[in-house]
Amino acid sequence: MKVSVIGLGYVGLPLACAIAKSTTHNVVGFDKSESKISKIKNRICPIDDFQCEQDLKIVNLECSANPDIINNSDIYIICVPTPVLNDYTPDLSPIKNAVSTVSKYLQKGQNIVVESTINPGVCDEIVIPLLEELTNLKAGLDFDVAHCPERINPGDPNWNVYNIPRNIGSTSKEGTKMLAEFYREFVNNSINEMPNLKTTEATKIIENTFRDINIALVNELAKSFDVLGIDLLAVIKGAANKPFAFMPHYPSCGVGGHCIPVDPYYLIERAKQSGFDHKFLKLAREINNSMPEYTIDKLIDALNHIEKPIKNTPIGLLGMSYKANVGDLRESPSIKLKSFLEEKSANLFIYDPYFPELSNTNSIDELLEKCDAILLATDHKEFKLLSGELLNKKNVKVVIDGKNFLNKDDIECYNIIYKGIGH
Ligand SMILES: NC(=O)c1ccc[n+]([C@@H]2O[C@H](COP(=O)([O-])OP(=O)(O)OC[C@H]3O[C@@H](n4cnc5c(N)ncnc54)[C@H](O)[C@@H]3O)[C@@H](O)[C@H]2O)c1
Repeated sequence: MKVSVIGLGYVGLPLACAIAKSTTHNVVGFDKSESKISKIKNRICPIDDFQCEQDLKIVNLECSANPDIINNSDIYIICVPTPVLNDYTPDLSPIKNAVSTVSKYLQKGQNIVVESTINPGVCDEIVIPLLEELTNLKAGLDFDVAHCPERINPGDPNWNVYNIPRNIGSTSKEGTKMLAEFYREFVNNSINEMPNLKTTEATKIIENTFRDINIALVNELAKSFDVLGIDLLAVIKGAANKPFAFMPHYPSCGVGGHCIPVDPYYLIERAKQSGFDHKFLKLAREINNSMPEYTIDKLIDALNHIEKPIKNTPIGLLGMSYKANVGDLRESPSIKLKSFLEEKSANLFIYDPYFPELSNTNSIDELLEKCDAILLATDHKEFKLLSGELLNKKNVKVVIDGKNFLNKDDIECYNIIYKGIGH
């Protein structure tokens, strides 16, 4: 078969490589970003994904920023972003654009798979009507539309596109079966055939909503236990000693990435259109969105203890990425932390080894040299060397650990004020 992947980002590129590596199908990729395509053509991986980097060196993957490359595909797989607008309502324009592109090439007997995360109803209410209107073909009869939501966790050493189980549902039972067989060719785990498109779409949304809500719970507990004088990390460790029915989640200075802080809004908005108000989901979003400001308040409190105002005090922000050991800025809490610090006229120094272009210092050492207080926002492995001894040597007086990543006891040994989140 000819298989085309539309959107070669964190989801599409590892997928295209996996199909090209594990099957005999002819795989092509289309991305509207010329710079991404030029990197991929030179076998430079544009994303932080070790497996994908390795695969890209050896696979036969033709790609282009010209959509004609997808012409005459048996399967078109859509992996474009699904962000939210400034008012947190879903922005489905990348999906609609990708569907319009596919419609120019779609013929009878071909299939479309949407891997992007979408709310229940997007395939039936938007993707299929658009395709039918633009092609004069009939879904379920002339072509199948399937949803097979991606669950990849970039940078995860254990789970990747080859071994994460999948759910797939489509416009017809036969279509689901055929496409499930296709996924079984390169995914070495279960491919669950779902009853229809809507249930498949809902499955992915609840996975990420489940995480958002549980993180919101521990973030709220962090605030509550802080005033009660209880160390939440010790509590979570104790509760996780129960071998069933408890799943540890951890508090932090905020929730980032393209999925957890975005996907719940897709369900909230679609349910609202049908007259249902998701109070619980909205509250979880509100709590998680409040964490950067809460973290800045912790910093101001700690500075008060050493009788320093935040204004003009040299503060070091360590980490811009939303996630450890990768350079991914999407929805990063560090963006909010940085703008709060700027609003309050702190003398701001930034270091992130994965974002030299966003850093105004060249090393951890240089940042420590300049700062009275540091705020750790990303748990990059490089920051593990921040010991009490080093911080004391550099005369750092306050440490705000937004990821509960550093050794509190070791830092407090040197009479440095340490504040984690609920810790
Ligand atoms: N990043 C993750 O960890 C992850 C995990 C699971 C699911 N998802 C979901 O997968 C989808 C894609 O996410 P991603 O992280 O790969 O995004 P990404 O931004 O890394 O990649 C998307 C790519 O699509 C391209 N693109 C956008 N519009 C296009 C169009 N009309 N035609 C062709 N190319 C187009 C962009 O240039 C970009 O390269 C989203 O719905 C996301 O929620 C992401």
